[in-house]
Amino acid sequence: MAYVKACASTEIVGEAGTCAMVGGKKIALFRVDGKILAVDDMCTHDEASLAEGTVLHENERCVVECPWHGAHFDLVSGKAVTFPAVTPVTAYIARELNGSVEVDMA
Ligand code: FES
Repeated sequence: MAYVKACASTEIVGEAGTCAMVGGKKIALFRVDGKILAVDDMCTHDEASLAEGTVLHENERCVVECPWHGAHFDLVSGKAVTFPAVTPVTAYIARELNGSVEVDMA
């Protein structure tokens, strides 16, 4: 584990995405059911910011819908679950500690 501070907890409001630079990478952060979910910010289809996407609850899974062409990515596994994206994004373990959001960049 190598947790790196991403932002203050107060910067993540509801399920709206927040983009933070963490360890030199842009990470999209969301709060869903009280848990922080973190994936690479850049869509693997055409470089949209997933932090600007919409969180959707599909059956058992929670996804972010890309704001440009609508691909869905599983926010826990990073898997691309709908076209036009086919390549997953990296998903990260994240936590809240002492008012901050931290992402495991190991
Ligand atoms: S840029 Fe995300 S689906 Fe095209």
